[in-house]
This record gives sequence, structure tokens and C-alpha cells, in this order.
Amino acid sequence: MGSRVLRVSESEIAERVSEIAKTISLDYRGRELIVVGVLKGAFVFLADLVRKLTIPVVLDFIQVASYGASMTSSGTISLKLPISMDVKGKDVLLVEDIVDTGGTIRFLLDHILSLGAASVAVCAMIDKPERRKVEVPVRYVCLRVPEGFLVGYGLDHAERYRELPGIYELITDASGENHPE
Ligand code: IMP
Ligand code: MG
Repeated sequence: MGSRVLRVSESEIAERVSEIAKTISLDYRGRELIVVGVLKGAFVFLADLVRKLTIPVVLDFIQVASYGASMTSSGTISLKLPISMDVKGKDVLLVEDIVDTGGTIRFLLDHILSLGAASVAVCAMIDKPERRKVEVPVRYVCLRVPEGFLVGYGLDHAERYRELPGIYELITDASGENHPE
């Protein structure tokens, strides 16, 4: 049987979100910031983060094709939902759920820069630096979790568990099936 184990509690997440929001607010004070959330995984983190910022921002969303139902990276990335705003000459903060191999964020950085943004910085809810294959600059890291497949607080496995308020590691049994209950 598989199970899920709590890795980061609601209160630990909230504490780190507040700290990182303070840093971002200082770094971008006096500037006009466009916050771009990467759907779907970043939606809970993004909602908490923007409510802790003390600078005005405008929001947009972007979506790429990612893991699907698998627990390993597909390796191919495509744009599912483009951003709706004109980012030409603007400062963009890309808010992503997890930077793992780095492939997704590399794709998104290149894409937004190709649209003429003045700057693009990455804010990751979780950094998994051990599995990095593509070098990417991650300016703001909320939490570092070295290993394990994580769900909750927006993160899914086959579209499930996004609603959990904490971050859990999904433990898979030998058959490859998950029985998280
Ligand atoms: P990368 O392209 O390998 O950096 O993969 C990043 C994407 O893979 C993230 O946006 C997540 O959607 C997904 N991902 C990576 N690790 C996990 C995990 O532990 N749980 C859920 N999704 C994950
Ligand atoms: Mg994702």
C-alpha cells in the first residue's frame, strides 16, 4: 500500500510566503510588476503570495503542457494557454509551482523574453535542485525539497490532491499504484 506523508505544514508555508513576499515587494518597489502565474500548479501559491505583496501588481496566467498523469517529466513542452497581456518593456515575475529539471521554466523564460519583456525573474514555490538538468536562474525560492513526488497546495498527481492545504509526499507501492487514503 502507498500513502502520503506531510512534508510542509500550512503554517510553515504561510511563514515562508510572507518572507518571500516581503523580499519581492522591496526588490520591485516603485516599479510596475506583471505577475504571471503558471497554471495550474501555482494557483494556490500565487493567490497567497499576491495577497502578501505590498506593491501594486497586474496579474496574468500562462499554461504549458506538463507531466500529465505520469510522475516523470515528459521532456516535451508546449504552450497551452498564452498570456493575454502585452509584456513589452515590462518587468515580469514568473510564478511557478516546482522547478525540477528546469525544462519548463527555461521554455517559459525564453518565451516571455521573446515577447520583449524588459526583465523576467522566476519565483518558485518549490525548488528541487538535485534533479536540475537545465541551468535556470531562480531568483525567489519559497521552499527547498530535495526529493520525492509532492502533492497538495496546488500540486497534483493526475489532477488530484490540489486542494490539500499542506504539501505531502506521495509514497508509491511496488505495483506503482497510489493508495493515498
Ligand atoms: P521541470 O520541467 O522538470 O522543471 O518540471 C517542472 C514541472 O513538473 C512543474 O511545473 C510541475 O508541474 C511538475 N512537477 C515536478 N515535480 C513535481 C512533483 O513533485 N509534484 C507535482 N508536480 C511536479
Ligand atoms: Mg507545473
